[in-house]
Amino acid sequence: MDSSTQALFDLAVIGQKNSYSPYSQRKVGAAIRLKDGRVFGGCNVENSSFGGTVCAERVAIFKAVSEGAKAGHPIEVTEVLVVTDEEAPWPPCGLCRQVLAEFAADSAKVYRSNLKGKLIEQKFSELYPDAFRPRHLLGG
Ligand code: THU
Repeated sequence: MDSSTQALFDLAVIGQKNSYSPYSQRKVGAAIRLKDGRVFGGCNVENSSFGGTVCAERVAIFKAVSEGAKAGHPIEVTEVLVVTDEEAPWPPCGLCRQVLAEFAADSAKVYRSNLKGKLIEQKFSELYPDAFRPRHLLGG
């Protein structure tokens, strides 16, 4: 892993440690990097009313937006990394893919990883081909 991916991984692991997941007992951490270089971490936050649960990836994205990230439309996510304890690293769920489609270019890198050194890289367009995008509503 190169040093910038390692930095993203380390931030995701910090998030994973903060995971609030008493129901699934699955600790998920995520980190994103924006075009302007800023990075944000997140963890899954579960709720006793299960639909209230928010995934780690969305927490990281919403943190970036709420912290005023401005590059792109309105921010541009260039990298996303997800870490779990699973043998087969988890990809972002469908809902997170849709939220990413708001902010990530087709070329954004999506990494799924675990604590045993597995790291799988994909382009966002492979993960979510033919994504529903802001342009479908806004034009352009
Ligand atoms: N989870 C994530 O945080 N990210 C994903 O992309 C997949 C699922 C969380 C939600 C829930 O807290 C737990 O993993 C089990 O679904």
